[in-house]
Amino acid sequence: MPPLPKAELHLHIEGTLEPELAFDLAARNGVALPYTGTEDLRKAYLFTDLQSFFDLYYELMAVLRTAEDFTELADAYLARAAAQGVRHAEIFFDPQAHTARGVPIGTVVEGLAHALDRADERHGVSTQLIMCFLRDRSADSAMATLDAAKPYLHHISGVGLDSAEAGNPPAKFREVYAAAESLGLRKVAHAGAEGPPAYIREALDILGVERVDHGLRAMEDPELVQRLVRERVPLTVCPLSNVRLRAVDTLEDHPLRAMMDAGLLVTVNSDDPAYFGGYVGDTFHAVREALGLDREQMRQLARNSFEASFLDHDEPRRRRYLDAVDTYEFGGS
Ligand code: HPA
Ligand code: ZN
Repeated sequence: MPPLPKAELHLHIEGTLEPELAFDLAARNGVALPYTGTEDLRKAYLFTDLQSFFDLYYELMAVLRTAEDFTELADAYLARAAAQGVRHAEIFFDPQAHTARGVPIGTVVEGLAHALDRADERHGVSTQLIMCFLRDRSADSAMATLDAAKPYLHHISGVGLDSAEAGNPPAKFREVYAAAESLGLRKVAHAGAEGPPAYIREALDILGVERVDHGLRAMEDPELVQRLVRERVPLTVCPLSNVRLRAVDTLEDHPLRAMMDAGLLVTVNSDDPAYFGGYVGDTFHAVREALGLDREQMRQLARNSFEASFLDHDEPRRRRYLDAVDTYEFGGS
């Protein structure tokens, strides 16, 4: 039985760095990692909070140095994603995390683009690239990053906002998002994972985002939920990430089903699959089990993923993907 076709819309490419590849790249690039091996490294994956995740996430990135490293990273993700039914992926990357280490933005973008440009042919996956700004850095740094990305915008569909949310409201990036819009870029932002519902409103009203990444805490604000339903704003939810980063206690407590029942356009995604215990197909299975979702709810999630994607309404592949979801036959399990 082939897996349910789906799009992945919330995926940090740096978060797909598996311990094995990290050690391979460390050896190739002469980078010392403070772990004795992959087993030892895996023990560091038991996070207590967002900061302990970021500490490891940024530490391991040190192994990514050349364009080939980024190509290998992206190609490994695309192969795994394709095997789990992903037909379309909109992929985040964090240029500031690399430029801060002396890796030029062109190396990052061209390395990733080399894998993405071949993804359709090699893996049957269509792709787009979304450049994220680190919200715990300054708005000036984000603006400088947008400026540095200008020669590479033909590879980039949109901008996003990630890293430590609390205390770094969307409004801080008002000018950067206005500049991104004037360059023809699409706009999304992480909001409402750790931050309050007000951050979701700001992302919509001040940044003009067309999709909210996470958006979990909208559920604390019924009026906001009504608005998100009315305006059909997609929310890219990452249930395994929410458990591992302690936004919810257990998967059984996750509000995904309540969000669907409220009529929200929710999608299910993996966020940082190497760190949070599963790729997007694994995540679909996990929520199905934990929340007792039925087949038609799983189909709805898959449908939502293509509906919420940046694929144009008149793109034939959008119709093809949706047809593949509609005609998908679930196996016996
Ligand atoms: N949250 C916020 N920023 C991020 C994450 C995350 O889970 N992963 C990569 N950047
Ligand atoms: Zn994320």
